[in-house]
Amino acid sequence: MISARGLVKTYPLPAGEVAAVAGIDLEVAAGEFVAVVGRSGSGKTSLLNLLAGIDRPTAGEIWIGGQPVHALRGSRLAAWRGRAIGLVFQFFQLLPTLTVVENVMLPMDLCKTVPARQQRERARELLHRVGIADQGGKLPSALSGGQQQRAAIARALANEAPVLLADEPTGNLDSATSDAVLELFAGLAVDGRTVLMVTHERDVSGYATRQVTLTDGRISADTPTPAEGRIGAEGRIRAGGRTGAGGRIGEDAADAPALTGRVGRS
Ligand SMILES: Nc1ncnc2c1ncn2[C@@H]1O[C@H](COP(=O)(O)OP(=O)(O)OP(=O)(O)O)[C@@H](O)[C@H]1O
Ligand SMILES: [Mg+2]
Repeated sequence: MISARGLVKTYPLPAGEVAAVAGIDLEVAAGEFVAVVGRSGSGKTSLLNLLAGIDRPTAGEIWIGGQPVHALRGSRLAAWRGRAIGLVFQFFQLLPTLTVVENVMLPMDLCKTVPARQQRERARELLHRVGIADQGGKLPSALSGGQQQRAAIARALANEAPVLLADEPTGNLDSATSDAVLELFAGLAVDGRTVLMVTHERDVSGYATRQVTLTDGRISADTPTPAEGRIGAEGRIRAGGRTGAGGRIGEDAADAPALTGRVGRS
């Protein structure tokens, strides 16, 4: 689903060039849930922005779902991205003058994926799914960091894109809500979507199917996580692959694990 070959991104600086991405080859199949880890400055966000077509590679190719992302430009690139990629940014990037529900409606409106009459209802459903149904009428600035993060996740799910790219989506969440988000992403992958998530969390092996470690813009480790160690993976598959994706994230931290129906981790 995702194929990056010889990917390089350098930035010109007064002191010389800095290679944020210094030669990455990466193949990710549909249904994989890849956790991208690495120290601050190792190139995680840079890689994500290249894959999303937000930044243009200095060298190399990116193919996503058969599309040569490195070769797309302008309105074709924007149209492709809107349908093919769900994006959660490191710093949310909700539009400050739109309400939360309008922020979630925006991708549907831009890409005409959902009829205008149904957009608000679908947005409300997504906000419900991430546990902030009661926040839809507010402006993003009136939400806590964790609530804004959940709004950004709802927006990323709006067009049911086959690929979800998320930059530290659990960075501002308490551990219970964070687990619920990971559970939601794992469920999407079980349903056949491709999820690539940058994270600082020490241990996401209970959810991700694979962990890719970046060091100085290169892949220094790439390891699958064994299915038997994955929480709920078996249950989700048995349940027809819908349990995780259909699960809802709790309104507040305390009830999040219960609502997703997952057996607690110890
Ligand atoms: N626009 C830019 N101009 C110059 N250098 C940049 C730019 N964006 C990133 N870099 C540099 O590229 C390197 C990788 O940055 P990147 O943001 O990808 O790291 P990261 O792994 O996402 O870090 P963090 O965990 O702190 O978010 C860093 O050295 C950074 O300073
Ligand atoms: Mg980053």
